[in-house]
Amino acid sequence: MAVTIGALRERAPQETRVSLVPEVAAKLIRAGARVLMERGAGERSNFPDGLYGGVEWAGSLTQLLEQADVLLTVQSPTVEQIGLLRPSAVVVGFLQPYARPAEVKALRDRRITSFAVELIPRISRAQSMDALSSQAAIAGYKAVLIAANHLPKFLPMLTTAAGTIRPAQVLVIGAGVAGLQAIATARRLGAVVEAYDVRSATREQVRSLGAKFVETGVSAEGAGGYARELTAEERSTQQEALDSRIAAADAVVTTAAVPGRPAPRIVSRAAVERMRPGSVLVDLAAEQGGNCELTRAGEVVDHAGVTIAGPVNLPGQLAYNASEMYARNLLNFLQPALAKGELAIDWSDEVFAQACLTRDGRIEHEPTRKQIEG
Ligand code: NAI
Repeated sequence: MAVTIGALRERAPQETRVSLVPEVAAKLIRAGARVLMERGAGERSNFPDGLYGGVEWAGSLTQLLEQADVLLTVQSPTVEQIGLLRPSAVVVGFLQPYARPAEVKALRDRRITSFAVELIPRISRAQSMDALSSQAAIAGYKAVLIAANHLPKFLPMLTTAAGTIRPAQVLVIGAGVAGLQAIATARRLGAVVEAYDVRSATREQVRSLGAKFVETGVSAEGAGGYARELTAEERSTQQEALDSRIAAADAVVTTAAVPGRPAPRIVSRAAVERMRPGSVLVDLAAEQGGNCELTRAGEVVDHAGVTIAGPVNLPGQLAYNASEMYARNLLNFLQPALAKGELAIDWSDEVFAQACLTRDGRIEHEPTRKQIEG
C-alpha cells in the first residue's frame, strides 16, 4: 500500500509556514505516495489549496492524524495531536528536542518514530536537507531589512546634489549561516560591515563577503563544528574587544548560538548605552534568551534612543520562500526512504540514525534523553 504523507495547518501562534508546498507534494505523488493535507494548510504562506494538484484533502485534522503514515510538520505536533497518531507513524519536523519535553515524552510513549530536523548532521551529503541552514539564511536576510527599516540613516553611501552621505556601519556578531547571510545582505545594501565569531574558521568566510573580521583573541571551537560556551575569562576578553565596535556601529545584528544552551550574553546594557541614539540592534537569538541583555522576545524596545528588536520566527515573515525551502529539505531527507511509494528507513544511514529523536518507545537522542530522563 502506498505510504500516506500528511501535512497539517500549523496552529502555533505566528507560524505562517507550511511543511508541504505544491511542487514538493507533486514530487511525492510522482514517487508513488498518497499526500493527505488539511484544507488551508498553505494559505498563510500564499499557497492556496487550488495549487496543490493531486493532493487528497482530509475531512478533519483527526482524520489526517489517524491516517498519516508520515506526518510532516513545521513545528512539533501538540501532545493531543500526537495522541491521535498511529504508533507506527513517522513524524518529521522542527521538534525542538530541548524546548518541548512534554511533546518528546508523548512521542516516546506513543512509540512514534520521530525525526527532528535540527538533528540532521551538518555533513556535505545532507546539505540539501539542512533545514536549520535554509531557515537561518532567511532570518539573516530579514534581520538586516529590519535594521534598515528602523535606522534613521541610509545604508549605502550616496553622492547627491545635497552632498555626500556616509555609508552606515553594520556589525554582525555570530557568523554562522544567519550571520553570513546578514553580512551579504548588508553589503548588497551598501553598508560597511564588520563581523565577529568565536570560530576562527569564519574569519575567511567573513572576509570573502567583503566584511572586516573583528579580532578579539578569543576562539572557542566546540564539538561538531559548533561553538562552545565561553569561560568567564574569555567572556570578559571578548566583551572588552567588542564593546568599542558595538559603540561605533549604526546597526548591530546578533546571531550567536550554542546548540542546546541558552544564547550567550554578548551585548550588555552598558554596551547599548554607549551606542549613538538612533542606532539599532536586531537580536536573532531573542527566542533563546537573547544575545543582548535588553532584548525582549517578540518586541521592539527603545533604550535611551537605541532601538532593540527581538523578532521571533523570522522565517515566518518570508513564509513563501521559507516553506518552499523547508519542504524541499524534507523531500531530500525522505526521498532515500521512499521506495516504490513505500517507506523503508535504512537505519545504518547516519542521517536517519542521527536525526532520530524517538523510536520504539525510546528517546534516541542522548542529550535529550539525559535532559528528560535524567
Ligand atoms: P548556530 O546558529 O549554532 O550559531 C550561530 C553562530 O554563533 C555560530 O557561527 C557560532 O560559532 C557563533 N557563536 C556562538 N557563540 C558565540 C560567541 N560567544 N560569540 C560570537 N559568536 C558565537 O550556527 P549555525 O549557523 O547553525 O552553524 C553552525 C556550524 O554548522 C558551523 O560550523 C557551520 O559552518 C556548520 N554548517 C555546516 C554545514 C554543512 O557542512 N552541511 C551547513 C551549515 C552549517
